[in-house]
Amino acid sequence: MESLDEIISRLKEWYSRTPKHFEGTILGSMTTWPHPIGVYAYQLFIHINGNDPVLFPIVQELEKELLAMIGSLYGSRYGLFTSGGTESNILALFVARRVSRGKNNVVVAPSTVHASIDKACQLMGTRLVKIPVNPLSPVDPDILEKYVREYNPFAVVVTAGTTETGVVDRVKDVSEIALKHDVYLHVDAAFGGLLIPFLHKHGVIDTDLTFYPGVSSISVDLHKNGRAPIPSSLLFFRSETYVDKACFEMNYLPSGVNCGLLGTRPGASLVASWAVVKAIGLEGYEKQALAQQDTALYLFKELDNREFIEVFKPVLPIVAWRSKLYDYEVMIKKLFNEGIFLYKSPSLKAARVVVMPHVTRENIDALLKALDKIHSGSGYD
Ligand SMILES: Cc1ncc(COP(=O)(O)O)c(C=O)c1O
Repeated sequence: MESLDEIISRLKEWYSRTPKHFEGTILGSMTTWPHPIGVYAYQLFIHINGNDPVLFPIVQELEKELLAMIGSLYGSRYGLFTSGGTESNILALFVARRVSRGKNNVVVAPSTVHASIDKACQLMGTRLVKIPVNPLSPVDPDILEKYVREYNPFAVVVTAGTTETGVVDRVKDVSEIALKHDVYLHVDAAFGGLLIPFLHKHGVIDTDLTFYPGVSSISVDLHKNGRAPIPSSLLFFRSETYVDKACFEMNYLPSGVNCGLLGTRPGASLVASWAVVKAIGLEGYEKQALAQQDTALYLFKELDNREFIEVFKPVLPIVAWRSKLYDYEVMIKKLFNEGIFLYKSPSLKAARVVVMPHVTRENIDALLKALDKIHSGSGYD
């Protein structure tokens, strides 16, 4: 057994070596530094099991309030709190199969869907038919309709803010197809859910995100742009009856049921999410979304001014770019050596900056300075 002092000193050592968002070097991950009220709430309710609303009624009460607050953006308050975009996507497809009749065991989705859709289909023994699409464009609704006719899937998945490029599929057009063919439509808005309604309101993007008549579910991560501690996400359904389909019998529990994929779950993250959403408010998320987009456009323009860079215009605050001199994976390693952490957009063979709420113009300037240094003497400078 080690003494607490020894353990604490190991922890402190690891902490000092672990990058932190507020240092401004994490520029590729979709995580961010949580709002302090979330950290406070998390610690206060660290002991509660989100799977037991009878012993801990707070989880049910605050889940309801949280769903109502965030759901007002999309026109539904039915759903459940989950551990992240992956759990939300798996549950959405599970519910889709439970409620669909006369369909094949197939899901149709553009090739830009997140890997958690592949995971969900693997877990369910479902065939995932991918529509090849340009990673910089939304799926063409006419082509999607052809696939729906050909495969008669039990669900269609589109993305409102793709992981690699931030592209927003045309939710309204796709929802009309879903309605016409009576197929379950899940919209994965893990990243875009707290950006799109505001950017659309301000005319920054054309596509809106809401429960159009053909949309069956929408997932939105709170541990991304919501600034809640990990793990926090919401899965909304268009109807209350769908929520029950995400629940299972668990008769030793006082409630007798267990909703979602986890058993015992961190009730603390639900309480923390509630506190963060209350503290920031929809008006705070609106300001934040506009600021993120502004910073992303600043980065886009600066990169576009550099001859040695090819950059793709961002739809949401994700900027994909590549060096004309170095392979994108080499480029990312070079930046890593400079203490700057980016992710990949493999479909474009590009590096990717995600302008999360913690990313400032100063952080972007530091990235640009590092890029200039890496390319200096290359003939492009
Ligand atoms: C569009 C999209 N969906 C789902 C996920 C998975 O979310 P999580 O990592 O919270 O499970 C991500 C993660 O980046 C994502 O970008």
